[in-house]
Amino acid sequence: MEIIILPDAAAASKAAAQILLDLVTHKPDAVLGLATGGTPLALYSELIAAHKDHAFDFSRVTTFNLDEYIGLPEEHPQSYHAFMHENLFRHINIQPARIHIPDGNAADIKAHCIAYEQAIRDAGGVDLQLLGIGSDGHIGFNEPTSSFGSRTRTKTLTRQTIKDNARFFEDDPALVPKHCITMGIATILEARCALLLAFGKGKADAIAATVEGPLSAMIPASALQLHPNAKIIIDQDAAAKLTFADYYQWAYANKPE
Ligand code: F6R
Repeated sequence: MEIIILPDAAAASKAAAQILLDLVTHKPDAVLGLATGGTPLALYSELIAAHKDHAFDFSRVTTFNLDEYIGLPEEHPQSYHAFMHENLFRHINIQPARIHIPDGNAADIKAHCIAYEQAIRDAGGVDLQLLGIGSDGHIGFNEPTSSFGSRTRTKTLTRQTIKDNARFFEDDPALVPKHCITMGIATILEARCALLLAFGKGKADAIAATVEGPLSAMIPASALQLHPNAKIIIDQDAAAKLTFADYYQWAYANKPE
């Protein structure tokens, strides 16, 4: 794991966006795994700015989103389809046919999950998987006790996640769907690079457990310790509970060329 601690969320989002833009520069047909939520918003703004200000080309990029709520109409403003369209896709020149988001209204969800995994394989696998982290340590919607061997499937959200996400649903937990489709942990681990972002004090415990705690299904993000190319880019607040923070900063400052 490479732990990169930057002064604030803006600097961290810029650094993460640069990694993604460098990848697409070197591999214009890159396959990107994308996340929703508050965390990647500034990064998506950086991508939009790269397209608008420097004509950065996303036309050959393929994307796979991590997750989607079950039963929320695609046009609902809080569906992840609507989120991605509003916060990224409609502002860049990505081809609609290259966008993949789990279909939370599929008639046969089990078959859809199997087909989603196959589509990732058919695209050649994910080059870079962007991740946020829940306050309970979830990645995607792989809640605590998710198997490290899990693949794309349905999950039931924890009460904590429902509470955390109520801010997007008029602050009313009753409006948050209870079920979702999510890539599994094994699916995420197959990405050639995993890039996890976390900002704010509310993520400090989850980050400490992910980076320095034992591998545990209770902290699904700890599975990233098994990933040969995982980068954790965080702000000072999210780094607040890391015992080895000084070392990570020193290592980053002295990174070989
Ligand atoms: C969303 C996702 C989730 C979020 C996590 C953090 O696609 O996969 O794991 O990344 O719940 O959410 P925010 O960024 O809103 O704190």
